[in-house]
Amino acid sequence: MILVTGATGNVGRQVVEQLVDAGEEVCALTRRPDRAGLPDTVEVVRGDLAEPDTLPAALRGVEAAFLFPVPGRVPGFIDVAEKTGLRRVVLLSASAVTYERPNAIGRVHQGAEQAVTGAGLPWTILRPGAFMANDLNWARQIRATGVVRGIGDGAATAPIDERDLAAVAVRALLDDGHAGKAHLLTGPEALTEAERVRVLGEVLGRPVRFQELSVEEGRAAMLAHLPAEVVDSMLAMRAESKEMAEVSPAPADLLGRAPYTYAEWAAHHAADFS
Ligand SMILES: NC(=O)c1ccc[n+]([C@@H]2O[C@H](COP(=O)([O-])OP(=O)(O)OC[C@H]3O[C@@H](n4cnc5c(N)ncnc54)[C@H](OP(=O)(O)O)[C@@H]3O)[C@@H](O)[C@H]2O)c1
Repeated sequence: MILVTGATGNVGRQVVEQLVDAGEEVCALTRRPDRAGLPDTVEVVRGDLAEPDTLPAALRGVEAAFLFPVPGRVPGFIDVAEKTGLRRVVLLSASAVTYERPNAIGRVHQGAEQAVTGAGLPWTILRPGAFMANDLNWARQIRATGVVRGIGDGAATAPIDERDLAAVAVRALLDDGHAGKAHLLTGPEALTEAERVRVLGEVLGRPVRFQELSVEEGRAAMLAHLPAEVVDSMLAMRAESKEMAEVSPAPADLLGRAPYTYAEWAAHHAADFS
């Protein structure tokens, strides 16, 4: 049995689906089983990483776990997992831990990584850069106005499709060969926000315009849905965007195929933008 935490999220939902497709027995942890909407064959368990008492039941009979890094809650999960005999853990982290300049996002994930690497069970760490799925936040603007408002600083990232990230997670969950490794995972191309908006318009077959905001205007918009510390950390990282724009060869090497392009991701999500 494989336990997937964060199973209703962008990445975890894909991990669940790909494990099911591979014929694995899957248990999914969520705080709201009634809203999970996961495949029928999945055993959905109510649990909260912030409430360690809920974890022993979820971990019973589990050999490997995909661990969603709720800030400050990874040590509690590892404590319980060591007692219940978990044999393999795959931690979702972030490429920000590798950036030269200290940053808030990296610090949070470093804490999670330390809890996992300091434990006595085999681990694999996934360090993705930006998710393509972040751009689903543009869906409402695109549907309503055909305009995406974003910071016009030309910062580029090499975003990864959640299907590729999950595919690497599945390999690490099923194969001992990934133990003790930290994989840096990005998409295949560096793109600015304006370039991604152009690709979306081409794929959707209708005009989508990028409206440039100043950094101050962009910060105010981000504060509507993110904490100030995270927003400022993201803006600081954008200002030194070299590392964010790096393309990692790891997904192609690990998957034995090219990772999905942004255009392929957009085509897969066309209904979300229409
Ligand atoms: N977005 C990016 O560009 C990016 C880049 C690198 C790394 N990351 C990292 O990736 C993670 C986000 O992944 P995602 O987009 O897949 O997540 P998401 O779509 O935001 O979903 C969050 C998931 O976490 C679960 N969750 C939250 N609090 C929980 C708790 N206390 N106990 C149990 N489950 C809890 C939720 O489950 P329920 O609500 O069902 O309980 C849900 O499945 C973050 O750690 C982020 O730092 C993101």
